[in-house]
Amino acid sequence: MLAIGCDHGGYELKLEIEKYLDEKGIAYEDFGCDSTASVDYPVYAKKVCQAILDGRCDKGILICGTGIGISITANKFKGIRAALCTDCFCAEATRQHNDANVLALGGRVVGPGLALKIVETFLNTPFSGDERHMRRIGQIEQE
Ligand code: RB5
Repeated sequence: MLAIGCDHGGYELKLEIEKYLDEKGIAYEDFGCDSTASVDYPVYAKKVCQAILDGRCDKGILICGTGIGISITANKFKGIRAALCTDCFCAEATRQHNDANVLALGGRVVGPGLALKIVETFLNTPFSGDERHMRRIGQIEQE
């Protein structure tokens, strides 16, 4: 199950992504927001991260205007590896190397065509499992 959340700056792009997920038959849970009215992105980042850490969802997509605020918030959570991606190369690499479990997007940065390709790449690329990448991910969590 995929968790998806946004603020007002990401709301329109979230609708496009959900249309894509519906077409592909990919299950998701929407944690808001529900309009373009101004809201605070940390609220939605926290809901999505909590759903992943609880085991209710295995990956997440977070969208704000730039993707920056929402990814900064997500990366405060131990066990969350959020990657702000503006291209498919980064989306592929962050799955292979970082085993990123959250994709962050900027609704005011990437258009819907590119965003959907980034989502597709992120969801379809497995973690490499290479020892060096596992070691580095382990080091992220160390105090
Ligand atoms: C909202 O105006 C905007 O600040 C937010 O969507 C995001 O870009 C923050 O990083």
